[in-house]
Order: sequence, then C-alpha cells, then structure tokens
Amino acid sequence: MADGKHGGVLGAVYEAKGAEEVAALYDRWSESYDHEMAIAGYRHPSICLALLARHLPRGAAPLLDAGAGTGLIGEWLGIMGYPHVEALDISQGMLAKAAQKGAYKAFHRLALGGPLPFDDGFFAGIVSAGVFTSGHVGVEGLGELIRICRPGGVIVLTVKNTLWDGGFASRIAELEGQGTISRVEETAPYVSMPAEGGTVPSRAVVLRRL
Ligand SMILES: C[S@@+](CC[C@H](N)C(=O)[O-])C[C@H]1O[C@@H](n2cnc3c(N)ncnc32)[C@H](O)[C@@H]1O
Repeated sequence: MADGKHGGVLGAVYEAKGAEEVAALYDRWSESYDHEMAIAGYRHPSICLALLARHLPRGAAPLLDAGAGTGLIGEWLGIMGYPHVEALDISQGMLAKAAQKGAYKAFHRLALGGPLPFDDGFFAGIVSAGVFTSGHVGVEGLGELIRICRPGGVIVLTVKNTLWDGGFASRIAELEGQGTISRVEETAPYVSMPAEGGTVPSRAVVLRRL
C-alpha cells in the first residue's frame, strides 16, 4: 500500500531506520507494488523515461536502473531502443518482480549510498526514479552514480524537495563548479503520486558527466 491517504508501506519506509529494514519492507510490498502505484497515478517512471530519451541517443548501452524496484522503467527502456539495461536494488523481492518482466540483462542486489562494484565510467546512462526520497537514499548516493557514469553519459534522477533543500541542490552546484557534471535539465517540482493526499513534491534532474 502506498502512503498518503492510504497510509501503509511507503509511509513505513519513510520512517525506516536502516537499509535492511527498507529492503524488508519492499520485499513485502513487491507483489502489490505495480497495482498500487498505478492507482496512485505514479509519475516518476514516465518522466524519467522521457528525459532519458531526450538526452541519451537510442542504442546507448549499458544503462543502469538504480533502485529499479519491480522494473517499471526497464520495460519501457527496451521498447524505446536501449538494448542493455541492468537493474540494481536493495530489495531481492523487488528484483525478483523485475526479473519477471524480462527487461533486464543483469541484476545487482546492492545498496546505493555506499561503494558500488562497477568500474569508473562503466554505464552510458543511469536512471534512478523514486529513490532519492525520504528514508531511502540521500545525497551520499550521488557520488558513486557519477563515478560509474562515463564522460558524456547522462544521469536522470528524481529528488524529493526535502532532500533537494537539505543538501542536494548545493552539492549539485558544487559538482558543477568543479566541472564534474553539468545540469542539463531540471523539471519544476511535481507531485509523484497525484492520487495520494499530501505528498511532498519532487523534481527530476538530468546531469551530464563531464
Ligand atoms: C519507490 S521505489 C521506486 C522503484 C522504481 N524505480 C520505480 O520508479 O518504480 C524505491 C526503490 O528503491 C529501493 N531502495 C531503497 N533504498 C535503497 C538503497 N539504499 N539502495 C538501493 N535501492 C534502494 C527500494 O527497494 C525500492 O525498490
């Protein structure tokens, strides 16, 4: 069950005390996640997909879906002409559901926020939808995504307003100043689950690795 007027799993994730607790909550949610997010009018995957397609050429590979969940984005990436997408998530249950969609070439049960076992510049593009949000991953997860994205590649991610104002905006400005990334595009804040009551807006950001 989503948060807002329904209460439930996402609300519990926002309060979770650690990565393994988050993973266990998503494991339990995995079966009903797609249905409940559809009812909630969940927008992040469509917005991220549109931004990725606007800034990354058809055929770019490999891509990483970071915090892939049940694979809502992976399905569309294949249809849009990205032939090799890998899924990373902390929840084995969510990755198992993603595997059923037949859209990913590899699965990585890993935690964002710490070191990732990929070479520098390995991925041509990275997408992370609904992950940089309360109780999930904070700005500490950004550096590794930048490291594993190749120069010229793009990173599309959504960031909840509370995180944006709590350090994300300043970190991105700092990285731009250092010449590590450029901010190619940033949406206006929008509510990710419009059918839910009272959710804090997020924005989607497109970063190019320099
Ligand atoms: C709201 S869901 C979004 C899933 C998918 N991107 C989508 O848009 O449907 C958040 C996902 O982030 C994963 N997650 C939370 N914390 C994580 C972490 N530290 N590292 C990797 N994945 C994490 C959860 O297991 C869950 O699958």
